[in-house]
Amino acid sequence: MNRSDREAAKRRAGESAAATVADGARVGLGSGSTAAHAVRALGREVEAGLDVLGVPTSFQAREVAVEAGVELTTLDETDGRLDVAIDGADQFAGPHLVKGGGGAHAREKLVDTAADRLVVVVDPTKEADVLDRPVPVEVLPDARAPVAAAVRELDGQPELRRAEAKSGPLVTDNGNLVLDCDFGAMPDPGGLARDLAALPGVVEHGLFVDAADAVHLGTETDVSVFEP
Ligand code: A5P
Repeated sequence: MNRSDREAAKRRAGESAAATVADGARVGLGSGSTAAHAVRALGREVEAGLDVLGVPTSFQAREVAVEAGVELTTLDETDGRLDVAIDGADQFAGPHLVKGGGGAHAREKLVDTAADRLVVVVDPTKEADVLDRPVPVEVLPDARAPVAAAVRELDGQPELRRAEAKSGPLVTDNGNLVLDCDFGAMPDPGGLARDLAALPGVVEHGLFVDAADAVHLGTETDVSVFEP
């Protein structure tokens, strides 16, 4: 799949998911390039009269929403519940996801799990039988070395994520660091998710187990929608 076909697939997935949002819904707004298509499409529907309130999953999602004209709220103001969230993924295998390619997975998990339904928007490069992408693990800055050691004990290879336009590490929206942890194939994402969550200093990891209620998979020509 070339770059422009992939971009078109992402756009189709995002627009398809946005079209399912009901009037009056409180919506979790995902991060990344595919979710941004959904937020922009939602903005166009707002312009046409749809009434929704959005809770962004990251600084980036907030910027896209403001530009698109989607009114924002917070989890405090919605009693911690949302009707639906639309978010991207770095990889999906059935309902399981790896997220955090943009370092936003801590807030994404918070917002996505607050929603009655998580709608995942992806292109075909994200599909897998078994998850095997490195798992982003957000850690408190002081926890980098102990968590890296514990990840090695779990047979993973941790790598500190570096910033692209700054010397040194990437710093998340929450002021923390990210270790990208390569475990190879992960046939039991639930077990690994529990092991990672139990490590002191781990703020959140990017394994979203049994998370997707629906997947909108954009292709070169169409969108395939299914409940995994
Ligand atoms: C952000 O931290 C991620 O979880 C994104 O949702 C994920 O990386 C997908 O991004 P793209 O849609 O840009 O591939």
